[in-house]
Parts: sequence; C-alpha cells; structure tokens
Amino acid sequence: MLRTHTCGELRINDVNKTVTLTGWVQRLRDKGSLLWIDLRDRYGITQLFLEEGKSDQKLLVAARELGREFVIKVTGTVAERHSKNDKIPTGAIEIKVESIEVLNQSKVPPFTIEDATDGGDDLRMKYRYLDLRRNIVRECLLLRHKMAQQTRLYLDGLNFIEVETPVLIKSTPEGARDFVVPSRIHHGEFYALPQSPQTFKQLLMVSGFDRYYQIVKCFRDEDLRADRQPEFTQIDCEMAFITQEDILSTFEGLVRHLFKNVKGIDMPSVPHMTYADAMRFYGSDKPDTRFEMRFSELTSVAKGKGFQLFEQSELIVAICAKGCAGYTRKQLDELTEFVKRPQIGAKGLIWVRYEEAGTLKSSVDKFYPEEELKKWAAACSAQPGDLMLVLAGESEKTMKALGELRLHVAGQLGLRDKNKFAALWVIDFPLFEWSDDTKRYHAMHHPFTSPKREDIPLLDIDPGKVRANAYDLVINGSEMGGGSIRIHDRATQQLMFSKLGFTEEEAKKQFGFLMEAFEYGAPPHGGIAFGFDRLCSLFGGADSIRDFIAFPKNNAGRDTMIDTPSTISEEQLDELGLTIKSENSNR
Ligand code: AMO
Repeated sequence: MLRTHTCGELRINDVNKTVTLTGWVQRLRDKGSLLWIDLRDRYGITQLFLEEGKSDQKLLVAARELGREFVIKVTGTVAERHSKNDKIPTGAIEIKVESIEVLNQSKVPPFTIEDATDGGDDLRMKYRYLDLRRNIVRECLLLRHKMAQQTRLYLDGLNFIEVETPVLIKSTPEGARDFVVPSRIHHGEFYALPQSPQTFKQLLMVSGFDRYYQIVKCFRDEDLRADRQPEFTQIDCEMAFITQEDILSTFEGLVRHLFKNVKGIDMPSVPHMTYADAMRFYGSDKPDTRFEMRFSELTSVAKGKGFQLFEQSELIVAICAKGCAGYTRKQLDELTEFVKRPQIGAKGLIWVRYEEAGTLKSSVDKFYPEEELKKWAAACSAQPGDLMLVLAGESEKTMKALGELRLHVAGQLGLRDKNKFAALWVIDFPLFEWSDDTKRYHAMHHPFTSPKREDIPLLDIDPGKVRANAYDLVINGSEMGGGSIRIHDRATQQLMFSKLGFTEEEAKKQFGFLMEAFEYGAPPHGGIAFGFDRLCSLFGGADSIRDFIAFPKNNAGRDTMIDTPSTISEEQLDELGLTIKSENSNR
C-alpha cells in the first residue's frame, strides 16, 4: 500500500508516529503563519498542518498550490492538536507534514464535496462519481453492503442456496412493461429483461432446491417515483414444502435479523391484518401503523337528516385527529384544498371540532345539531380537544381519499417519525383486480398465486371476491415485500390463465414450460421478494431509494452521467434488423 494508515484511523495514542496517508484534499485553510489541510478518504478526514518558519519553505509553497480534490500522498508525524474537534474520530490529532507528493491533480469540482454541498440534483447525478465521495452518499452504500451481507448470513444459516437466474429471458407478467432486447441472430425476435425471477425460482423448486434466494436485479419499464427505479434489486426467495405461516415467520425473521444486526433495534413480532381490514380501517393496502387514526364509519349515524351530499353517498367515514380541535379556519381550509386536489379527488371535507369545553362545532351545523354530532363523536371515540374529519362518496374512492388525508394530517402532527418503525403483514389479498381500462380482471399479485381453497367456488360466480394466498410486508406505510403461495398443478394454473382471459393457445405459448414442469412432480411451494433498495432507504431514514443505488437513473429514467438511453449506429440497427425504413427517420 502507498499508505501506512487511512484518514479515519489515527488517534491520540498514535502521537509521535511517522505515518504516510493518501487521499483527496477536501479543504485548505491558510492563516498565513499556519496552513491546514483536510485530507479525506473513504474512512474519514485527517487534519494536516504546516507552519511558517518551522516547515520546509519549499513544502509550504507546494502545499499552497494544492487544489480541492487533488490526490496526494503525505508523510509526517502525528501530533496532539491544541484545539480538538470532538465531532470527528481523528479530531484529537493532526499530522505535521514532512513531505507531500501529488499523485494526481483535479479540476475544480463542479460542486463542493461536503455534507452540505452547493450542488443541485442534476449536477450531482451527472458527476455521480464525485457525489459518491460525499460522506452522506457513501454511508448509504455502506449501509446497503451491510444489509446484503446480513441478508446472506441469515438465509445461508437457514440452508437457503443463492442461485443466479438468467437476465435475457422471456417476458414475465408482473404487471409492468418489459424492457426488451432485440436478437441479432433471430431478427424480429426479442428477449425481455426479467421483471423478477418469478418463473425461474418456481422451476428451481420443481428441481428440488427447496430453499432458494438471490439478491437480484429486476427491470420494469414503469413511471418513476421516489420509491421506484427502472432497474432495482430484490431479495428474491422461494421455499418448498411450506405453509403460508412458515413463509411469514421465516421472512419476519429476516427483517428482525436486519433490524437487530444493522440498526441494533429489537423489532416486536409483526402483526397480521387482512387486506379487507387494511382497506376498512386505513383506506390503503399499505397502512402506516406508526400511529392509529383508524377510520370510523358514520354512514348509518349520519344519513337520513336531509343533508344532500350524505344522502347521495355510499359511504360516510371519518378520522379523528387527536388534540386538533384548535385547528384554525385557515388550517381547515388547507385540509379541504388538500382533499380536493385531483390526485385525491374528494369533493369536499366536513369537519367537527370537539372543543375542550365539550361543545361540538361543525361545518354542517345547519343539518346536524349538537346531539347528532355527539353520536358522531361516540362512533369516532373522539374526546374533547379532538377534531373529526369526514369524507363521503363512493366507497372505494372515499376510503382512498381519507387514507391520503390521514397520512397528510399525521405528517403535520409529526407522527411519521423516521426513527420509529412499524411493520405489518397484510394478508388475504384479492386474487384479481378489475381494470376499467381493459374491462377485465388482472392478477393482483401475479398469475402464479394460488386462490384460497375455500374461495375456489367463487371463481365462476364472483371472481372479484376470491381471496389469494398472498401477502405483503408493509413497514411505515411502504410495501417492502410481497409474495404468495403458488399454484403447483397444471389444471389450476390453466384455469387461472383462462380466468385472466388467456386462450389455451396463448397460455401455452407464454407459459407452456411452467405448466409442463408442473406435470413432473412439482412440490407445493411459495415465496416472497423484498424491495432491497426500499429496505435500505427505510433503514437509512430516506424518502428516496436513489441514494442507496450507486448509479441510479434520474426522474426521467436517464443516466445523465453516461448519457443513456442513447441512439445506436445505423450498422447496429441493421445488424439487429431494426432499421427504420421511413424517409423521415433520423436514424
Ligand atoms: P412484487 O412485484 O411485489 O413481487 O415486487 C417485490 C418488491 O419489489 C419492490 N419493487 C420495487 N422497488 C424499486 N423499484 C421498483 N420499480 C419496484 N417494483 C417493485 C417492492 C415490492 O414489494 N415475483 C414477485 C415476488 C413473489 O411473488 O415472490 C414480485 O416481484 O418492494
């Protein structure tokens, strides 16, 4: 090594040692008679110093010529600092410089490489390799490394085998669009990048592997959001000869292991809630359970009093914001504006203040005298000092809108604390989901998910009511993982495809290999996949998964550093049989 120590290593008991350090010049402070340099590497920062009159003159001149981000090698003696910096581990010492070698120069970086940088998002994405030098970003990747290591440790300990599955595959229907790769040898034919290794992990169960996992890249051509990237990583797992309970307890174990070993947190056991209850109490299949604020239904209490909006509504439902009776008119108007936003879609908001004095005041006083409002308060378990917020309309939309309002109010009240973690298994998801666009049912999870045995008779009568052996792990209101017990016989799989509108021909063309495999002794099996980037950002206390990915795409799906997606040459297009023949083509 060019160095004897790293920049994060030296302490007070190293004083008087001669050491050699390498790293990047973070900052120079020239006070005339004294010159300090902060030298940074991956491990930390060490202060170097030179002194007019005591240090070699040539050395002082050379030091003053160093620029930000120059790569240097320095030899010197460790000395105790006069004024110590207790904010950094090396803050008790500094290095009295005896020689400096410039290993490489640097242009002035386009933004300051410090925790509080002056660089905007776009600039930092373009120079991601410089952004990665910043402590904050580097720590995200170190956390990710630790999470991957601990995941492997836990799963290896339970006899799981990591198997790599192919990346050039045929499309798997997980609901998003595929990224496709044209074949050079077979013009007009395409590979698809996996949205997940779903079918392969099931085939591995047929092969007898029994317990599989893989920390694996998945690709989905969908719109980006803070918690979505077109290429992302899953902890993908599958087990054979298990029940749903076995899967839930094994992977609850993984999550608890991670909390314990990465964050030092003892997670309590994870409660289970049915999808139906999650929707009924929180208006969401991924409720944030760091706080209560459950829904209370007011339909029967509030109907029949001549208030037109309520009379026309399928559902009247409320949340109770504890201690918020003092909300000002302005605050209430802001909440009303919030629910009326097109993304939320409510027509308006009704509020009831349960004042400290015990009186009830509402935005619908004309229709509801106090004794009526008292009944609402009882239904909501509201106490003096609380605020009830009521929405009404068509059931599903109203519950979703109230779910959003619940999160918004909780955010305002500081109830969504990033250092608090609340996990929940949401179970018994519906098997199908109706799409208004395509006017047919789609698999809510994926077509390989098994229906609950007792609901099979409903497949023909009322498919929307069939429940699946499917589950999600939700933490702090985000879906961290999802999975299911699979179908493992050809007849049921074929039935499922036909319910999803596949002709026998289509099902055979797309999934013939899997159905055939089911005829060669497929064991009962099931599994789960966690969003690894999401888990990392949750552990890191961030809203976006971007900083936990070394080289992420921006919001438009671009990597501006390597400038992709980009055009390819005419020759490449020709070779792939993709030449566009139109005269106006710019290719
Ligand atoms: P699912 O589609 O629910 O299940 O995906 C599993 C988990 O992956 C994460 N995730 C994403 N993370 C970042 N960016 C994205 N674009 C993205 N999409 C999904 C989520 C999600 O919970 N094959 C099944 C699993 C199974 O049945 O075993 C599957 O992929 O955290």
